[in-house]
Amino acid sequence: METRHGYSIFQIALHWLIAALVLFQLFFGESMTVVVDAAEDGQPVSATDQALGSAHYWVGLSVLALVLVRLLLRLASGVPAPAGHGSRWMRVAAHASHGLFYVLLLATPAIGLLAFYQGDPWGDIHSLAKPAFIVLIAVHVVAALYHQLWLRDGTLKRMLSPAG
Ligand code: HEM
Ligand code: HEM
Repeated sequence: METRHGYSIFQIALHWLIAALVLFQLFFGESMTVVVDAAEDGQPVSATDQALGSAHYWVGLSVLALVLVRLLLRLASGVPAPAGHGSRWMRVAAHASHGLFYVLLLATPAIGLLAFYQGDPWGDIHSLAKPAFIVLIAVHVVAALYHQLWLRDGTLKRMLSPAG
């Protein structure tokens, strides 16, 4: 559904808030692994790992809730048509990578919950989210900069300022 000229202020705020929370999870997620492993072995953990481990739990659940809000908003107000007149494969690639982001954003916290309460193999599966997110974010950032700086079609600008 392509019904708007740009993203709304709420869509933009959610994009950057979710991006910041996901980066936090990727940077500090290993503390959760330390906490889970220590609990299995009956070992103590540092206060820092304990705090970052419980932050991981709540930040992860916040990502899940915010992504659900974002998808509802997307259903309600639609998404803008591509900013530029890129080739067909670029449109397909953008569509596929955004879809993959939503799959990861929903599946990672859901599998995280299973990892927390059921242990392995969910823990191992959940940990795969790290390389998957890193590759996808790298491609996404390069694509955004390529659109904005090379094609100059305003793609990044419209994720920074809302449509009038
Ligand atoms: C977008 C949300 C999330 C991201 C990006 C994320 C990412 C990560 C990362 C990078 C690790 C460390 C993996 C490693 O040590 O190599 C991890 C571990 C873990 N996370 Fe998450 N996480 C998210 C949400 C959640 C949620 C909501 C929960 C639970 C309520 C959770 C529970 C766990 C557990 C239990 C581990 C330890 C897994 C193990 O080693 O057995 N995560 N997560
Ligand atoms: C964890 C980090 C990130 C995630 C999960 C993420 C996710 C997404 C998703 C799912 C969309 C599609 C929105 C929709 O149409 O529903 C999107 C769009 C966009 N993102 Fe990100 N993003 C992240 C980081 C970034 C960064 C760092 C940049 C800037 C360099 C960026 C720039 C953009 C731009 C410009 C768009 C709009 C694309 C268009 O209009 O077709 N994103 N992002």
